[in-house]
Amino acid sequence: MTPSMGRSEGLFLTFEGIEGSGKSSQIARIRRRLDTAGLEVVATREPGGTDVGARLRALLLATCRSPITPVAELLLYAADRAQHLAEIVDPAVGRGAIVLCDRYLDATMAYQGYGRRLGAEAVLSLHRLPPLDRRPRRTILLDLAPEEGVARARRRNRDLGLERTEGRFEKEDLEFHRRVREGYLVLAAAEPERFRVVGAGGDEDEVEARVAAALADLLPCLARDRP
Ligand code: TYD
Repeated sequence: MTPSMGRSEGLFLTFEGIEGSGKSSQIARIRRRLDTAGLEVVATREPGGTDVGARLRALLLATCRSPITPVAELLLYAADRAQHLAEIVDPAVGRGAIVLCDRYLDATMAYQGYGRRLGAEAVLSLHRLPPLDRRPRRTILLDLAPEEGVARARRRNRDLGLERTEGRFEKEDLEFHRRVREGYLVLAAAEPERFRVVGAGGDEDEVEARVAAALADLLPCLARDRP
């Protein structure tokens, strides 16, 4: 659909994957292509897409003296999400924009539900409360072996000096990241209509082509070759 066709409702698209799976660079690439096609795009992320969220993000990702309990962690991610939906996502979708969101509910399912072993039901029951009951139209899962993803993420945090403020999850052991990845794959298999699983290994241009193909039915401008 083009803007001139008067898209009344926008599109809520989410990008998921373990650390270092390349979500943010793929979102930036897709964003550029949609911008070029003249569509209104809002690229955002969880945690931290709002001012309140940025404070929650700092709390969630820093290493604290006393560790955050799994349930407290779940509630903080949900608080970030409720604010983000109300302040950014819902208004943007309502005015017809395309929202590209770096992590959403499936991250909570994978990290807190599977990684922290709180279970899917604990996460889902919390997400029946509006506006947390909002579901994306499509979710791109960038799938990568945890060994590779965590190594990439650690390298990036070291290069950017973010180990102390953002490194809490990179410090988890490989078993944790394996559970997260398995969790994501279980979620994707349970909802094949919403999810597209895209291999995140190798060349970024190739990954971009796979992501574009996985969205082209919703956004035909992505079916064309890269401008
Ligand atoms: P993000 O900034 O996407 O990290 P990265 O770019 O390294 O992939 O997300 C920050 C961290 O928050 C990430 O380790 C995953 C974690 N997280 C959860 O545990 N639960 C959630 O619901 C969300 C949204 C993120």
